[in-house]
Amino acid sequence: MTLTDEAATGPCPLVAGNWKMNGLKAALGEALAVDKALAAEPEPVGADVMICPPATLVMVMAELVGKGAVKVGAQDCHTGESGAHTGDLSPEMLADAGAAAVIVGHSERRADHGETDRLVREKAAAAHRAGLQAIICVGETIGQRQADLTLEVVARQIAGSLPNGVTPQNTIIAYEPVWAIGTGLTPLAADVADVHAMIRDRLNERFGAAGSAMRILYGGSVKAANAAELMAVANVDGALVGGASLKAQDFLGIIEVYRAAGAA
Ligand code: PGA
Repeated sequence: MTLTDEAATGPCPLVAGNWKMNGLKAALGEALAVDKALAAEPEPVGADVMICPPATLVMVMAELVGKGAVKVGAQDCHTGESGAHTGDLSPEMLADAGAAAVIVGHSERRADHGETDRLVREKAAAAHRAGLQAIICVGETIGQRQADLTLEVVARQIAGSLPNGVTPQNTIIAYEPVWAIGTGLTPLAADVADVHAMIRDRLNERFGAAGSAMRILYGGSVKAANAAELMAVANVDGALVGGASLKAQDFLGIIEVYRAAGAA
């Protein structure tokens, strides 16, 4: 599909699993089961699928499934290429290990490690330098939502967290309300629609036609039971899935919904 086609029909949906700090070697069987199930499906697949395991599993998972329909991503990266940064991983290392993408600015990193929009922007630029797709996360806290600041906060994060040089190929946005992550709560479809429309407007203003082809994922308590409703919302181009991506059966249930939508 060319970019022009994508602009007309909307981008191909992406379902990305974020395993967070979960998964020992034994969990690789789940990725393998997803890979096997997708390999058995007729073409076209209709949705892109990715799993972002902990860094310890990136290389082995990429070797196991990375050549099939399941792409492998990482969950964070340093801004540098190499150097004296004990415990950190550069995007070049992640690319070398077989990652195709890296999540940056997840709210858990913003909260646990004080990551700012500026740092997230630098990490996204570093990911691009290494040839990785950057999955840039934004989203408001419950306090910000209750204070009616959602659109303002997310607009500020979008402005501050995206580097120049963003393209539909190298960048994916994930809108994840912090209060919806891991809680079983999801916003109303109308609220998701408002935020995604605002993000789309900002992308179009800053990046022109490329903004319409960029994927904007929704994340926060996505499961098979609510995936269809969320996918039907305008400007929702896929999902970033935490808890429900850990078991192949749950994750495949969500992928199925997005594949049907993408193939339609
Ligand atoms: P959840 O997490 O699906 O478990 O709510 C989503 C995320 O944080 O990416």
